[in-house]
Amino acid sequence: MNYTGSVIGTDILQNEDTQARQKHHHTLWQEIQQVLKRNQLGGGEAAQDKQKAKGKMLARERLQHLIDPGTPFLELAALAAHDVYDKPLAGAGIVAGIGIVQGQPCMIAINDASVRGGSYYPLTVKKHLRAQAIAEQNKLPCIYIVDSGGANLPNQAEVFPDRDHFGRIFFNQARMSAQGIFQLAVVVGSCTAGGAYVPAMADETIMVKGLSTLFLAGPPLVKQATGEEVDAETLGGADTHCRTSGVADYYAHTELQAMEMARDSIGQLQQKPLPLKRHWLEPRFPAADLLSLLPTDEKTPIQAREIIARLVDDSCFHEFKRYYGETLICGYASIHGQTIGIIANNGVLFSESAMKGAHFIQLCEQKGIPLLFMQNITGFMVGKEYEAGGIAKHGAKMVNAVATASVPKITLIIGGSYGAGNYGMCGRAYDPRFLFMWPNSRISVMGGSQAAGVLAGIGSQSMDTDDILDMFDEQSKAIYSSARLWDDGIINPLTTRETLGFAFKVAMHHWQQDHNQKFGVFRM
Ligand code: COA
Repeated sequence: MNYTGSVIGTDILQNEDTQARQKHHHTLWQEIQQVLKRNQLGGGEAAQDKQKAKGKMLARERLQHLIDPGTPFLELAALAAHDVYDKPLAGAGIVAGIGIVQGQPCMIAINDASVRGGSYYPLTVKKHLRAQAIAEQNKLPCIYIVDSGGANLPNQAEVFPDRDHFGRIFFNQARMSAQGIFQLAVVVGSCTAGGAYVPAMADETIMVKGLSTLFLAGPPLVKQATGEEVDAETLGGADTHCRTSGVADYYAHTELQAMEMARDSIGQLQQKPLPLKRHWLEPRFPAADLLSLLPTDEKTPIQAREIIARLVDDSCFHEFKRYYGETLICGYASIHGQTIGIIANNGVLFSESAMKGAHFIQLCEQKGIPLLFMQNITGFMVGKEYEAGGIAKHGAKMVNAVATASVPKITLIIGGSYGAGNYGMCGRAYDPRFLFMWPNSRISVMGGSQAAGVLAGIGSQSMDTDDILDMFDEQSKAIYSSARLWDDGIINPLTTRETLGFAFKVAMHHWQQDHNQKFGVFRM
């Protein structure tokens, strides 16, 4: 297959410096991987053994029985809640991601009952809502595997009353259903009180004999409220809901059968399968070079063209306005056969680079080409000359184009993400379909030393300089961001091409161009 544009990239010469970079970035990824591996054990071996002793499968075993064998699973926010609460809460107690069921990409959310009974902490709610937002944007059927103690009661003030709290999950279910996005619940454990509304609001619900319970109040609360004594199975087991109440639709005898029923339900949607056959050329330069290309400090620039050469098909890049606004690289390429527009920082943003970015985004919108933003940005250029040149209004053009572009956008932070540069380059607030970070990347309103300087300049005594530096250092780390769901995950640079290829396929699967623009392309 031929790609437009020409081959970019140069061979990397191995020397002491590149070896040091390799080692540094390899170690950074290993640290992330250790946390990911630990999180795979959910609430730990004892809690998992307890779950197994009840004859229940573990969250990830359930996943394996649900998805098509041998297909990829794009796990999202796997580091959620890392080091946030007083006790560990692996993955915020929920496994979420995009898996292939009967050939179709689906959003799958599985409560991990081994993690504090699968109860919803604030970040559990945030992760569940993020999974739903991704499903809604990408029109993915949702499969909720329910095994949860519902709202985490000591945290009730942060999970119950507000707009983006627990109730929003059910609101989303109803609204997605109305948009034709199928909602399926498989109850494989408990779902009590508010939690009962996940299956109650689903389009179809499956329950398992002897394993599932669903009620608005469990036996202790019923006794307290009315004095009635009733066991959980009688109150809300599969027999009650499949034979008497009609709350559930399908009666499974085992968990395995429930997963088969779920697969059948998805198959009935008869949507087109996600094309997974490989028919593209790999980059001409090895992915391993990526680690040599990343500096060990934040001051040294990253050669964005060399990174692109190692991410795109055949290392081919059709560059737009190559010699204008050179601190922003824009151009067309393919990833896994999907044509994309790439916008990558190659230095600070000037007025010319911002206008070039705005122009290029409009072109991609007109052509129906999805966008990849590769962020490594300290911000827009500051100073008298640049303010007088109107950098604020030129930057605003780019921010406006990013905010209003309807083509799917994906953001990858490969270095720094600071200040208004984050906005122009499609930060979280600009609704990229997915936002991934590399382990070395950093995100904050500005660098720590700049913040310390600003606070000193205004005479603030609130914190001393070292504390400010420490705070910014800690809070700008990729893992700090991922733990709080400011992104969808930290990904391995070496497998980034695979992740992006899959994510773009998912984003484009149900996408239809809506030429709703009010203006044509403004040349900048
Ligand atoms: N709030 C706070 N903590 C909760 C919780 C909730 N809603 N649901 C479960 N947990 C905690 C338990 O206290 C326990 O914590 P520990 O490990 O520190 O002791 C852990 O999660 C595991 O729960 P446990 O009861 O030991 O597990 P189980 O498998 O025997 O029972 C449930 C699971 C969900 C049936 C049971 O925990 C339960 O009934 N929870 C309350 C459900 C409820 O009424 N929710 C209403 C919220 S809207």
